[in-house]
Amino acid sequence: MAQSIKIAGISGSLRKGSYNSSALEAVRICAPDHWNFDIVTLEDIPLFNEDVEAEGWPPRVKALRDRLEPAEAIIFATPEYNYSIPGVLKNAIDWLSRPERKGPIFNKPAAIIGASPSMIGTARAQAHLRQVAFYNGMPLLPTTEILIANADDKFDKEGRLQDNETQGYLQEFVEEFDNWLKPYVS
Ligand SMILES: Cc1cc2nc3c(=O)[nH]c(=O)nc-3n(C[C@H](O)[C@H](O)[C@H](O)COP(=O)(O)O)c2cc1C
Repeated sequence: MAQSIKIAGISGSLRKGSYNSSALEAVRICAPDHWNFDIVTLEDIPLFNEDVEAEGWPPRVKALRDRLEPAEAIIFATPEYNYSIPGVLKNAIDWLSRPERKGPIFNKPAAIIGASPSMIGTARAQAHLRQVAFYNGMPLLPTTEILIANADDKFDKEGRLQDNETQGYLQEFVEEFDNWLKPYVS
């Protein structure tokens, strides 16, 4: 049996009916048994401020950092806001990137997925997130892009993915990510 891998799925949306949080749930459905998959949301993270950091991690930031620390790999699910990543996600990454080159996401292998009601399915946000991940030394799954376009037609009101083609892409993505991760986690 394959060795268990701890993977954190970070949703960049705080919205109750978030397509991106739902996309992570759809990933969970097709994740292999050896994934210990923890879906993390970013409620109540204060705005990053170096003065606050100098006084110690605020409790919610500490809780987030403690949760991410054991993760061996990360899947970001990012919405696209104004052609970029939401401030909520960037702010959390700013906290997680500290201390510089020693934070709980530094050097961890990662993949990016995203869902949007638009036809372009977060492509522009994902390109920006790749740049942010690069600064954090995070190797990124190179080949597969999961752009869930027209998301409002693909999830039902309970957030369940109803589109078999997209579920199939997610299945392939999970298998590819799992294989690609092996040299990083063994
Ligand atoms: C402030 C704001 C800016 C947005 N900008 C974009 C955008 O640039 N491109 C896009 O495809 N969708 C954009 N949208 C629509 C989001 O893709 C949509 O609200 C999506 O459902 C957010 O992700 P979520 O469902 O995970 O919350 C924007 C939404 C908001 C609230």
